[in-house]
Amino acid sequence: MNSADDIVLETRGLSVNFGGLKAVDNVDIAVRRGGITSIIGPNGAGKSTFYNLVTGAIRPTGGQVFLDGREITGTPTHKLSAMGLSRSFQITNLFPQSTVFENLRLAAHALEPWSLSLQPVGRAKRAEAKAEALVERFGLGSKATEMAGHLSHGEQRRLEIAVALACDPKILILDEPTQGMSHTDTEDASRMVRDLSKEITIVLIEHDIDIVMDLSHTVIVLAQGRKLAEGPPAAVRANKDVQTAYFGAH
Ligand SMILES: Nc1ncnc2c1ncn2[C@@H]1O[C@H](COP(=O)(O)OP(=O)(O)OP(=O)(O)O)[C@@H](O)[C@H]1O
Ligand SMILES: [Mg+2]
Repeated sequence: MNSADDIVLETRGLSVNFGGLKAVDNVDIAVRRGGITSIIGPNGAGKSTFYNLVTGAIRPTGGQVFLDGREITGTPTHKLSAMGLSRSFQITNLFPQSTVFENLRLAAHALEPWSLSLQPVGRAKRAEAKAEALVERFGLGSKATEMAGHLSHGEQRRLEIAVALACDPKILILDEPTQGMSHTDTEDASRMVRDLSKEITIVLIEHDIDIVMDLSHTVIVLAQGRKLAEGPPAAVRANKDVQTAYFGAH
């Protein structure tokens, strides 16, 4: 496999302005297939904005995004899910009044190819089987019939990740998945992200530097909308610019 085939997500010159603010400023990244690539940076660095650009929630004012070599710039979120780019949100993305099982079944259902809607029974069975497998896998078996809104924060986050996986994505992008979690839930979630990374490429946007260092093969640092550094965790941690801009800011 040559190196171009090995890049699953790429941005070239990606930029967006909010009024006079360059929230994301000419950012190039190339995410290698497999494992975890992390994007870190201090508050307001542009991480969530970058995530929103890549996942189609907002449109860039400049630059391009490629998924598996195919340009996806400006493609809306729901189309991206069907193309294999899955995401989970900083703000919860569940249907709180539906059960855990129903949330998963809907996520699996919505992403079946349209042609299968001619066979509603078969389609429903497939979605149901997928939901059952995910419930087990994410340790939510005893909560399957509870309303998602009644779960603990950590369980909701676990369910969110399961929902993001319901469509068998090629790449999963997570924006601060452990935000607001207890120490134990954070450890559980990190373990889960590590497990998932064995079968799917993950881009992890994180604030917790220790989680990132432990999990990632590559770390990309954003500061003031720009890419400041990129490389293996230890090299990035040792980088002087990073220490000043990121660690120095905390
Ligand atoms: N919709 C918007 N309109 C105007 N300014 C925005 C908007 N969204 C974000 N910003 C600004 O863009 C900059 C980058 O914000 P962003 O949320 O991307 O940072 P972040 O790196 O995710 O920060 P955090 O670590 O706090 O999550 C900030 O200065 C923010 O105030
Ligand atoms: Mg953010």
